Amino acid sequence: MTDFAMQTDAEGVATITWDAAGRSMNVLTLEAAAELNRLVDQALGDEAVKGIVITSGKPDFAAGMDLNVLAGLKQGGARAVFDGVMSLHHLLRKIERAGMDPKTLKGGKPIAAALPGTALGIGLELPLACHRIFAADNPKAKIGLPEIQVGIFPGAGGTTRLSRKLGAMMAAPLLLEGKLNDPQKARAAGVVDEVAEDPVAAAKAWVLQAKDADLVKPWDAKGWKMPGGAPYHPAGFMTFVGASAMVSGRTMGVYPAAKALLSAVYEGALVDFDTALKIEARWFTWVLMNPSSGAMIRSLFINKEALEKGANRPDVPDQKVRKLGILGAGMMGAGIAYVSANAGIEVVLIDSAQEAAERGKAYSTGLLDKGISRKKVTEAKKAEVLGRITATTDYAALEGCDLIVEAVFEDPGVKAEVTKKAEAVIPQDAIFATNTSTLPISDLARASTRPEQFIGIHFFSPVDKMLLVEIIKGRETGERAVAKALDFVRQIRKTPIVVNDARFFYANRCIIPYLNEGIRMVGEGVSPALIENAARMMGMPLGPLQLVDETSVDLAVKIAKATKAAMGDAYAGNDVDPVIFRLADEGRLGRKSKAGFYAYDEAGKRQGLWEGLGANWPRAEEQPDLTEVQQRLMFAQTLEAVRALEEGVLTDIREGDVGAILGWGFAPWTGGPFSWLDMMGAARAVGIAEALAARHGERFAPPKLLRDMAERGGSFYGEAASRAAA
Ligand code: NAI
Repeated sequence: MTDFAMQTDAEGVATITWDAAGRSMNVLTLEAAAELNRLVDQALGDEAVKGIVITSGKPDFAAGMDLNVLAGLKQGGARAVFDGVMSLHHLLRKIERAGMDPKTLKGGKPIAAALPGTALGIGLELPLACHRIFAADNPKAKIGLPEIQVGIFPGAGGTTRLSRKLGAMMAAPLLLEGKLNDPQKARAAGVVDEVAEDPVAAAKAWVLQAKDADLVKPWDAKGWKMPGGAPYHPAGFMTFVGASAMVSGRTMGVYPAAKALLSAVYEGALVDFDTALKIEARWFTWVLMNPSSGAMIRSLFINKEALEKGANRPDVPDQKVRKLGILGAGMMGAGIAYVSANAGIEVVLIDSAQEAAERGKAYSTGLLDKGISRKKVTEAKKAEVLGRITATTDYAALEGCDLIVEAVFEDPGVKAEVTKKAEAVIPQDAIFATNTSTLPISDLARASTRPEQFIGIHFFSPVDKMLLVEIIKGRETGERAVAKALDFVRQIRKTPIVVNDARFFYANRCIIPYLNEGIRMVGEGVSPALIENAARMMGMPLGPLQLVDETSVDLAVKIAKATKAAMGDAYAGNDVDPVIFRLADEGRLGRKSKAGFYAYDEAGKRQGLWEGLGANWPRAEEQPDLTEVQQRLMFAQTLEAVRALEEGVLTDIREGDVGAILGWGFAPWTGGPFSWLDMMGAARAVGIAEALAARHGERFAPPKLLRDMAERGGSFYGEAASRAAA
C-alpha cells in the first residue's frame, strides 16, 4: 500500500505527499500511519534533509481518521484502542520534536504542513503537530475538528494541542461544537498560521529559513502558561466553571464525548504536555468504549453514508434529474425548488396563480440574500440559482421534465387533478412523486396512468435545513421510480430512507406517539415542566409540548380528527384529544399564534410554560418520578419504530435509526431507536414495556418481534449482521 510518498529536492527539503491509493479523499488508516512514521524517521535521519513539508497529492488535505478503523480497534477492546491512540501520539510527538535535543531544544529539523484544501480531524491534528501550518486561499476548504458530531472527540492530540495553542475559551467552539472554518477564518482564529497562494512553496521557503526557536512549541518552552489561564488561575477558573456548566446545560449529561473532552482539557492543563497526551488518550479510549459513541458513529457516519451512497438502491442505470417540475409553490414547494436549483437542477415551479408561483420563487431569493449577507453566497451564484427557476402557472412549461414533485394542498381531489394535468405534458418515462405527508401513496397513484412511475418523496420542513427525505413505495411503484427518487435525493445532498406505504409512513408515525404521550400526561395532571425536562434530559432536542407548539396545535387537531375517522374503534387518542381541542378552542395554536402550551411575548419569543395549564389541568397530587416519564416518552417512539419494522414499513434498521435522528431528532446519543434497544437489551426492553403497559395501557405492549428477540437473546444489529454474512 502506498499512501505517503517522499521526495527530497536539491535544497534539502523533503516533501512528504499524502495521496491515499484508490480514494478520492485522504483518510488515515493504521497502515498509512506506519508508513508516515517510516518516512519521518528516514527524513529525520538523513543528513541531506534540512527540513520537511507534509502536503497532499489531492485537492484536499484529509477528511480525518477512517472511522471504520476506529470501529475495528474497538473490537479489540480498551487496551487495543489505548495502544493505537498512543502510537499515533508517539508519531505526532516525533514530528513535533523533530529530532531536537529535549534539554537544549536545539538541532531539530523544521516541519511545515501545506494544506491545499479541506483538513478535518486527524487531517488537522497532524498539521497541529507540525511547526507551522500553511493553508491555500481556498474558500471552499473546511478546516476543523468535527469529531464531537459523531460522538467522539479529537483523540490524536488535537484536543490537547488546540486548547494549549488557543486557550480553553477560544478552543471551546472548535472542540465542543466541531465548528469548521474556511482558511481565512481558521487563520483569524489562530488554527492555521498562514494563508498562501501556493502553500507548498511558502512552506518550503519557511522551512529553509526556520531557526531553532521557531521549532519549539510554546508548551515545550520554559515557563509556558496556558493562554487564558489554567484551571487554578482566576481567569481560567471562570472559563472552566462556565464551560462545564455550558456543556452540562447543552448536553443534559447524555453525551459522554463532550464531558470527556472537557475533562481531558481540564486535567491535561494541570500537567506537562506528554502526560496530558496520555490523559487525552485515556479519555478517548473511555469514550470510544462507551456504547453511545459506537452507536453514533454507526448511525451518523457509517450508515448515513451508506444510505446516501444508495445502499438500498435497485440496480437500475443512472436516473439523475435534469429538469424538475414542482406543483404547488407553497411552503414545501418553494423549499424544494430552492434546494434543487441550488444543486444545479433546472426547475419549473407551478402554482394556480402567477403571484403564488412568484412568491414561491421569492423564497429562494430570500435565502440567497441571507447567504450573501453572511458572505456564503456571491451575487453571481444567486443569479445562477434564480436563473434555474421558472415560476409559472402554465403546465406546458413542464414539457421535458423527467421528475415531478407534487406539493399542492393536502387534498386528494386537488392532487388527482394536478397529477392528470402534469401527466398530459410530461414525457412518457417521467417519474411522478408526491410530497404528501398523510395520504396513502397507493390511493393517490390511482389518478396516474403510470402507477409504476408514481412514488412518494416526503420532505420535512424547513426543506433547506432538514436532512432527511422519506421515499415511499406505493403498491405498484416500480424500481426505476425508487432509483430516480434516490438519485434525486443524492443530487440535493440529503439522506434518504426508503419505506413502504402505511399511515404516516415512518417518521411521523413515530413522532406522533411521542407528542401524544406528552399531551396525555398534561391531561393526567403530570407537571408540564417535568414532561418537558424529562424529554430534554433523555437527549430529545425539544420536549413534546414545545414540539406541538412548533408544528402547531391546529395541525395536531386536524391529524387527530382524520386519524379517528380512519381508525374508528382502534383509535388510541381519546385521552389526548380533549387537551389539544381545548387549546385550539381557546385560540392557542402554538408559536404561530404566540400562544400554546407555552406563553410567548409580543415578538413571538417563548417565555415559559403557559401558567393557565395548571388551571385547566390541575396537577395530580402524586407526581410520577423522572424515569417513569422518560420511559413513557421514549418507549412511545421506540415501540412504534419496532412496529414499523414488524409490519414491513421499514425494511432496514439502519434506515430506522438514521431516519429517526435526522427526521425527528430522536436522542442522537442513542444512535437511534434500534441501537438504543440493543444497548439496553431486548429482554430488559420487554420488561419495561410490559410494566408500562400494565400501568398505562396496551399501547406499550411489547411487539411480538421484540418479545421473540428477547427470547432468542438476540439483538437488532447482531441479527442483521449475521443475515448479511449469510
Ligand atoms: P401550502 O398551503 O403552503 O402550499 C400549497 C400550495 O399549492 C399553495 O401555494 C397553493 O396555491 C398551491 N396549489 C393548490 N392547488 C393548486 C393547483 N391546483 N395547482 C397548482 N398549485 C396549487 O402547503 P405546504 O405546507 O407547502 O404543503 C404542501 C404539501 O406538502 C401537502 O401535501 C403537505 O401535506 C405536504 N407536506 C407538508 C409539510 C409541512 O410541514 N407543511 C411537510 C411534508 C409534507
